[in-house]
Amino acid sequence: VTTPPSFRWPLAISPFTLSDKLAISAWIIAQDRYTLGAKTAELEARFSEFSGMHALMVANGSVANQLVFELWKVKNPGVVPVVIVPAVTWISSLSPILMAGMEIAFADVNLTDFALDYDCTARLVENYTAKGRRVIIWPTALIGWSPEMERLRRLARAFKADLYLDSCENTFSRLWLNDTEVSILASADMTTTSLYTSHQVTSCEGGFVFFRHRADYDLARMFRNHGLTRSLPADHPTRCRIETENPAVDPQFLFALAGTNMRPTDVHAMFGLRDFARIPESLAHRNRIYRLYHDLLDHGAYYLPPLTDTHAAFCLPIIARRNDELLGDGATLKRIKRALTETGIENRPLIGSCLPGLQPAFRDYGPPERYPTALWLHHRACYCGLHSGVTAEMVAELCDLLNGLALQNAA
Ligand SMILES: Cc1ncc(COP(=O)(O)O)c(C=O)c1O
Repeated sequence: VTTPPSFRWPLAISPFTLSDKLAISAWIIAQDRYTLGAKTAELEARFSEFSGMHALMVANGSVANQLVFELWKVKNPGVVPVVIVPAVTWISSLSPILMAGMEIAFADVNLTDFALDYDCTARLVENYTAKGRRVIIWPTALIGWSPEMERLRRLARAFKADLYLDSCENTFSRLWLNDTEVSILASADMTTTSLYTSHQVTSCEGGFVFFRHRADYDLARMFRNHGLTRSLPADHPTRCRIETENPAVDPQFLFALAGTNMRPTDVHAMFGLRDFARIPESLAHRNRIYRLYHDLLDHGAYYLPPLTDTHAAFCLPIIARRNDELLGDGATLKRIKRALTETGIENRPLIGSCLPGLQPAFRDYGPPERYPTALWLHHRACYCGLHSGVTAEMVAELCDLLNGLALQNAA
């Protein structure tokens, strides 16, 4: 029995049908082992094929991000890099960096793909490199848009910086890299995605790190499981070498590195496998609904970036061009959010909105005026959910509501 949602258009709904639930229940009854087993390996194999990378499943997207930065530390002992991050993103894109003892430098975002402002990023990379600092560029593929990864790759190469990608909100996009079409998950040496409910593929809770290099993937397999060498196959050369080099330690509990427990469960992998099978229809539905929304919305009143085939919609963003300054910052946005909520449409701010200088966790990184585009979005943007329950009729009704509000505003 499920509780009816309090919103008639909730942010997210479970995509799992009765037949999914029965299949998963039958599997649970037939099992005694539920963690990091055959089902995790099966979902990893599917995602490896899908991404063209070595895919490693972990407990969630936040832990996937943590693994990226902890692994960088393992490979670069004693170095404290500066990580260039966008002023608008989700908290756990950034907190793993701070928890790893690294420094962050915010760059403003742009209004075409909502990722890093590329000129601002280039200036930061140049300045920090000139000071002798190691730099990591860490864009977010925000709400389904694709950052210009080719451009960032050129920048990273020019300054010997590292480039990784938080793609937790975009599992589906494909883009061009070196004249080859690839999954967004293959657009950097390490990328991450989240399988949390409401994301493009869901396992209820879950995340992935995608590795270009086999050696990184092998280190990560150990890190995810307490650093134990036996996370690698018995005949793996790295495992054999470490075991031979440490004859005084029982190989059953041999810690090659100071890892921790980031393991996923097979129960979540079971959910993930069911949703993975629906990728073609989920992607087509997301694109169809987003394009309709783009067509019906009054672009004089609401901002949307130009349509691009490297975008795989995560949600329906609502960005008011007006901001009744006379009534105070964000007054129009508050009116829009109130109207949505009163109509039963659940909504949220645009991810973290402007983090530096405004969110308490990042107050010391202000003032927010240093990030004018992020601040512009902070006062104007929110979003509502895009999922399998959203129909063309609902989108038409939403656009009527929003376009009508804009007319009242102009009056
Ligand atoms: C950009 C971004 N990074 C990281 C995460 C963390 O993913 P999870 O919720 O699976 O921990 C999210 C979650 O929504 C996200 O949007």
